[in-house]
Amino acid sequence: MDKSAKDPQKIRTMFSTIAPRYDLLNRILSLGIDRSWRTFAVNQLPKVENARFVDIATGTCDVALEIIKQHPPGTKVSGVDFSEGMLDLGREKVKEAGLSDRIDVRVGDATDLPFEDNTFDGSTIAFGIRNVQDYKKGISEMARVVKKGGKVVILEFTSVQSRFFRPLYVFYITKVLPFIGECVSGKKGAYKYLPDSMLDFPPPEKFKQAMEESGLRDVTFHQLSFGISAVHVGTVK
Ligand SMILES: C[S@@+](CC[C@H](N)C(=O)[O-])C[C@H]1O[C@@H](n2cnc3c(N)ncnc32)[C@H](O)[C@@H]1O
Repeated sequence: MDKSAKDPQKIRTMFSTIAPRYDLLNRILSLGIDRSWRTFAVNQLPKVENARFVDIATGTCDVALEIIKQHPPGTKVSGVDFSEGMLDLGREKVKEAGLSDRIDVRVGDATDLPFEDNTFDGSTIAFGIRNVQDYKKGISEMARVVKKGGKVVILEFTSVQSRFFRPLYVFYITKVLPFIGECVSGKKGAYKYLPDSMLDFPPPEKFKQAMEESGLRDVTFHQLSFGISAVHVGTVK
């Protein structure tokens, strides 16, 4: 994939453009399975009292809300994203859920997080790291803001490897998905970028290595739904 396709300005504009239909399309295109992937990812975070977590590329805040759902009342979450369009919808959902005192949402870049070192008990990113041009820098930032012993949890699509399932998967993401995406969002292009970025993303073993090289230990991954997505978990040294 051409590096310019992940130009941060382009990515930010693209997400702000598709934001109004983002949640709806997620549910349609994944047949609702995306929710269980986020639940699984959030379940990898440490269960500690009065924990503080940060969700990077938080978008419409589904992961931030799931963190609150799975943790005790003292837990707080900061959500960061560089698309104002996505964050506006996220803020609305947080407000509707009555959680504005527990989830703070702010503009920021995954490669230059607006937090001090060793601030959080864990950091998460769901379907975001694939879009970050320098993804290793993104991983190091997620590690930098987490305390020693805390967790970095990364949920991302992976390229399905199964000989039997792969042709069907490639057909779905390259033909069906852009068609539905375009019909529902009314926007051309964004749902063409999605399959390209999914197929371009490194396989789990290689991504695990990148996490290790970014200063994390005990890195493991769990492949979900026939390897359509994977959750990588690393511990901060
Ligand atoms: C596919 S959405 C995922 C949103 C959300 N995490 C979820 O699970 O639905 C990707 C998000 O990553 C954000 N993003 C991409 N690159 C980013 C970067 N470098 N810094 C901050 N946010 C970024 C986009 O603005 C978008 O909201």
